[in-house]
Amino acid sequence: MEPKTWIVTGANRGIGLEFVRQLQARGEDVIATARDPEAATELCELGVRVEQLDVADPVSVAGFAALLEGESVDVLLNNAGAMERAGDLGSIDYDLMRRQFDVNTLGPLRMVEAALPALRLGGRKLIATLTSKMGSITDNTSGGSYAYRTSKTALNMVNRSVSVDLAGEGFTCVVLHPGWAQTAMGGENAPLDVAASVTGMLKVLDGADAGHNGRFFNYDGEELPW
Ligand SMILES: NC(=O)c1ccc[n+]([C@@H]2O[C@H](COP(=O)([O-])OP(=O)(O)OC[C@H]3O[C@@H](n4cnc5c(N)ncnc54)[C@H](OP(=O)(O)O)[C@@H]3O)[C@@H](O)[C@H]2O)c1
Repeated sequence: MEPKTWIVTGANRGIGLEFVRQLQARGEDVIATARDPEAATELCELGVRVEQLDVADPVSVAGFAALLEGESVDVLLNNAGAMERAGDLGSIDYDLMRRQFDVNTLGPLRMVEAALPALRLGGRKLIATLTSKMGSITDNTSGGSYAYRTSKTALNMVNRSVSVDLAGEGFTCVVLHPGWAQTAMGGENAPLDVAASVTGMLKVLDGADAGHNGRFFNYDGEELPW
């Protein structure tokens, strides 16, 4: 396969960092982003292009969009995300919920808008966004996690609209659940190794075409219910 250019957000640690490692190992070009590039030692050591980006900050996103002017990008990988507890029913922290929406729901949408001119110049036209099974209404039998769950459910709808709006231009837009993976977010008891999660997701993305547009996949390729 010809090398592609990928944008990976939240690339300084966890799943994002592993995506960059595996993409670099197979010869792809990567534009990796981090909120604080100077502190992103492991990422910078890989020698890929690193840019500053906070997906919750419109000024930062606009600055990143300006950097991309005239460039062509094949894949936008919306990986950055946050999970904080907004409290239990009766003591919900609404400011925290708003902040979580800003990162998990509005952030990826801002990034689609920011990267669209570059993606239109690219050949692959793929937008992949990391969601979570915790955003699945069908799968929610344990309740709670108001901020994280709702921000990811809304994210799934963002992806669905983007997938419809861009289908005519040949884009494929999917949301992916990485499995419960060992990262700062997943915790050390997570059953899935980050490398296996990312290898699985890359396989799904390599096979993604128009027939996959607007759909929700597990890291192993299984389709997940909304
Ligand atoms: N691990 C799991 O089991 C699991 C399960 C389901 C879904 N997911 C999803 O997978 C994605 C990656 O998760 P992870 O496990 O790798 O989490 P992680 O280890 O906590 O890493 C999160 C990444 O997102 C970045 N980030 C947070 N807020 C940001 C912002 N406002 N702007 C830009 N970057 C920001 C973080 O940067 P900083 O270092 O600057 O904070 C970090 O690079 C997330 O979307 C998450 O919701 C993970």
